[in-house]
Parts: sequence; C-alpha cells; structure tokens
Amino acid sequence: GGEGHTHDVDFSFEGPFGAYDEMQLQRGLQIYTEVCSACHGLRYVPIRTLHDEGGPALPEDQVRAYASQNFEVFDEELDDFRPATPNDHFPMSNLENAPDLSLMAKARAGFHGPYGLGINQFFQGIGGPEYIVSLLTGYTGETREQAGVTFYENTAFPGGWIAMAPPLVGEDVEFADGHSNELHHEAEDVAAFLMWTAEPKMMARKQTGFVAVVFLVILASLLYLTNKRLWAPHK
Ligand code: HEM
Repeated sequence: GGEGHTHDVDFSFEGPFGAYDEMQLQRGLQIYTEVCSACHGLRYVPIRTLHDEGGPALPEDQVRAYASQNFEVFDEELDDFRPATPNDHFPMSNLENAPDLSLMAKARAGFHGPYGLGINQFFQGIGGPEYIVSLLTGYTGETREQAGVTFYENTAFPGGWIAMAPPLVGEDVEFADGHSNELHHEAEDVAAFLMWTAEPKMMARKQTGFVAVVFLVILASLLYLTNKRLWAPHK
C-alpha cells in the first residue's frame, strides 16, 4: 500500500538549461499513437503543436498527414466523421476508465518526503515523467481478479494494483531512426513525450527565467552603485 516506488531518470529537459530532445519526442509520439491511443486520449493537445519549435518540431506536411491518417473527429457541421486536421485536438480517451494523458505528467508526483517535507522534490523535481517510466516498467507479472476486473501488480502504482494491463513489454514499435526499442527506452521516450504534452512551453519558460535572472543581477548591481554614490557625501 501507500506510495509506490519511483526511480530517477536523467531526462534531457531537466535543469535550468535542459531542453526537450526532438527525436525522443517523435519516438514518444509514435509509441503514444501505436500503443497508448488505443485507450487514452490527449484531448487538450492541438495536433498542430506537433510542429512547434522546442517540441517534436515535425514539418507541417507531416503533421497534416499524421492527423488525417491516424484520427477521425466528429464534425458538427457535416454531422459526420471526417479525417482529423492539424487544427483539431487529439481525440478523447476511447476507454471510459483510461484517464486522459494530456496533463498526466504534471498530475502525478514521483518523489515524496522525507517526512512530507518535499526536500526530495526540491532536488529531484516533482517526478511526474519518472513516475510514468516507473509505472510502465514496474509490472511484476502478478495478477488478481476482483469483482470481475483483472488487476496487475505494479511497484510504482499507489496501492500496488492497477487496472491497466502492461501496455509495453519491449519491441512494441519499430523506430525509423533505429533507436533501441527495449522496454526502458520506450518507457522513457513516451514519458518525455507526455511531459511535453503537459508542459509544451517549458523551453520558453526556462529562457524567460534566465533572461529575468540576468536582468535582475544587472539591476541589482546598478542600484548598489547608485546607492553608494548617493550616500557618499554623507559618510
Ligand atoms: C492508467 C499510461 C496504454 C488503460 C494509466 C495511467 C498512466 C497510463 C500514466 C495513470 C496511472 C495513475 O493513475 O497514476 C499509459 C501509457 C500507455 C498506456 C503511457 C502506452 C504506452 C494503455 C492501454 C490501455 C490502458 C493500451 C487499454 C488497453 C488504462 C486504464 C487505466 C490507465 C484502464 C486506469 C488504471 C487504474 O486506475 O487502475 N495509463 N497507458 N492504458 N490506463 Fe494506460
């Protein structure tokens, strides 16, 4: 019972100068599309953002092809389904009890304590993407039935038993770039992608923060010198 176990992962987007790895986001998108989207939606994510700089940065024609080949949306005006376009959002979850994954990487905390102080989160981050990696790699193989539902033992899931069957086992997808499709690589790639869906503007935020800190340092030095100058005659 209680909190599950989350292990730390060194993601490219960590730290004050960290950035998303475009190729990793593209691999994560592929895993989401080929595996997770069978059950989970990304309803808050506009498909066109796959083109965004700092994100997967797919060329526009590829985004258009991706949308129309993978998803259908219900069009109120046509009163019918049509292929998705970049202006549509990703669909909602197909499976009622599978939660939407748009914000999942920020809705879960991987690191806790010690003693509820949050010090681990200060040093390691909140751990949302690490939690997702740990969840996807945390199946023990044990199952149990309860009220006709199968639960799978998982060392990361709070309480230890989850209703999601292991979605990844390794070699679930083939990457065009020949990147490893071992389980833990797939898990990291899809977790990075889900961090991007939850925080697509992280790069811009970090850059703004850096400029703000430089600006404040310059301002502080100028104020210090001004202050010295002003009070010099009275010393
Ligand atoms: C729950 C990720 C594939 C069905 C979840 C959760 C995450 C997740 C992060 C939330 C766990 C929590 O509440 O802390 C993924 C990823 C997938 C994937 C990354 C692809 C690699 C699937 C598939 C299915 C599925 C294919 C259906 C066959 C569910 C269900 C839950 C769930 C039913 C709710 C489980 C519960 O609350 O006990 N998934 N999932 N997932 N997923 Fe998936």
